[in-house]
Amino acid sequence: MTVPLRPTAGVSNTPAEDHDWWRTAVVYQVYPRSFADGDGDGVGDLPGLRRRLPYLADLGVDAVWINPWYPSPMADGGYDVADFRDIDPTFGTLDDAEALLADARGLGLRVILDIVPNHTSTRHPWFQAALRGDPMARSLYHFAPGKGPHGAQPPNDWQSAFGGPAWARETRPDGSDGDWYLHLYAPEQADLNWANPVVREEFLDILRFWFDRGVDGFRIDVAHGLVKAEGLPDGGPLASATSPHTRPHPAWDQPGVHEIYRTWRTLADSYDPPRVLVAEAWVPSNERLARYVQPGCLHSAFQFDLLRSPWRHETLRASVNEGLHTAAVTRAPSTWVLANHDVPRQVTRYARSQPAESLEPDEERRRWPSEPADLDLGRRRARAAFMLVAALPGAAYLFQGEELGLEEVEAIPDHLRQDPTWLQTGQQDPGRDGCRVPLPWRGQAPPFGFSPEGAADAWLPQPEHWRSWTVAAQSEDPNSMLNLYRQVLALRRSLWQHAEPLRWLATPEGTLAFARGAAECWVNTGKRAADMPSGRQPLLSSVPMASSGAGRCLPPDATAYVLRENGVDTSDSRAERVGAGQGRPAQ
Ligand code: NOJ
Repeated sequence: MTVPLRPTAGVSNTPAEDHDWWRTAVVYQVYPRSFADGDGDGVGDLPGLRRRLPYLADLGVDAVWINPWYPSPMADGGYDVADFRDIDPTFGTLDDAEALLADARGLGLRVILDIVPNHTSTRHPWFQAALRGDPMARSLYHFAPGKGPHGAQPPNDWQSAFGGPAWARETRPDGSDGDWYLHLYAPEQADLNWANPVVREEFLDILRFWFDRGVDGFRIDVAHGLVKAEGLPDGGPLASATSPHTRPHPAWDQPGVHEIYRTWRTLADSYDPPRVLVAEAWVPSNERLARYVQPGCLHSAFQFDLLRSPWRHETLRASVNEGLHTAAVTRAPSTWVLANHDVPRQVTRYARSQPAESLEPDEERRRWPSEPADLDLGRRRARAAFMLVAALPGAAYLFQGEELGLEEVEAIPDHLRQDPTWLQTGQQDPGRDGCRVPLPWRGQAPPFGFSPEGAADAWLPQPEHWRSWTVAAQSEDPNSMLNLYRQVLALRRSLWQHAEPLRWLATPEGTLAFARGAAECWVNTGKRAADMPSGRQPLLSSVPMASSGAGRCLPPDATAYVLRENGVDTSDSRAERVGAGQGRPAQ
């Protein structure tokens, strides 16, 4: 399976060699199946992405994170990897990948890939050898005899994150029932046994393979899943099917995982410039999350609190505070996320009544049928939410299409749904396809420039009304979501990217506000317009500001950036200064 290394001498990540770029970067997530289709098969690919890289550079992001592009049967959108050192033919070739990396570098964009170390596809040569009975290959996975008569029951009570038992029974080459193997996700994704040093060596070598090609870093899939508790004990029922990581469990967040990441960090640091590692770890608390970014471990970890937070000032503020405190303790930057390919899009989350408590993604999806969505309201709030995130200390990850204000496509016909969650939950949870619908680029009808003329149908259907939300249509409109994102990202560089830590300001009911230096960010999640103190010069707002007497007021569901004139300071003296640790300390 190993592909010989190509000469890599001279690979250098030219965009001004700032080794701390990841601390304050805006990273754009590309879901390659849905970004741009170059060859007309209805599925996005690397030539399509390559042609659109200038769009991302113009948008003003610093880096691109590309979801898995490796050969895969696509049982879970590419997270079922059959070969970690090549490109799926649907997406292109290794040469396409290298050309893409070179183009990105030329445009000043860094590139982060997705590594999937918790499991392999069951089509991976290792698992195939295991099924043929090779004892060495079997020791790379978790095979165990079943319980009960004839071993007919799974070895323990663990549940798959997609629903149903986390164990599947193998069929031996002679057709008889064999042992069970662990799959914390789909049955086509067999969990690797990280107690085996061969697995550890293999992944170090995979990292080297891509680092040697100039990749700037990795997002680590299921970073909290690799190590399982000794003996695989029962864990009791899980909180929810798609987010089972909200309380301690022997399958998740085991302490042994951190020594693995120390070896990864040592490897990343051995490169010039050093490569970076960001964890996807759904753990029960920020205290647990902090362990992933302790000195010598990973560079950063996604902060998912904002992504689960309702559009409520008190919850948003609490989430920001939590994230900033974690950063202050760990010296790793906060890594804010409002959306990704696993959760309903924020326009849709904000388009319904806002619950008092944060919701898990599957809980959010399950409430769709009971309440109509007001997408105009959702978009208005999404504009404001992005301005909030862009003003915070730390790094931010955007999910493709959020800059277009795309909503979750809830009405995908059932027979077209592809996410394994749909079938594994007995069609109770519609799954994650609704945020993965191909992007609309231009034109009046699907595929909206996603594919070239005469192409096959896009792999998921786009709504007709997306004609108003294409990149081309929005580029013409100065008030579009796309132009707001462009303005915000440009302003972020001068205003927020390297600004001072955050100080909360005293604010009227329904709002939150903070200052960083002389710049302030005001957010109104309330039902009424909020008066803003005088002595502020407006810089940008998510909707037009209104006047009130001598001053201005911020309408509901809006955010504004303002500059304080004459040093007037309304800092909330009860609130502490937060946001230290995002800057440039030695980590
Ligand atoms: C997290 C990924 O983001 C998700 O899309 C995937 O299904 C699981 N990990 C399993 O790899």
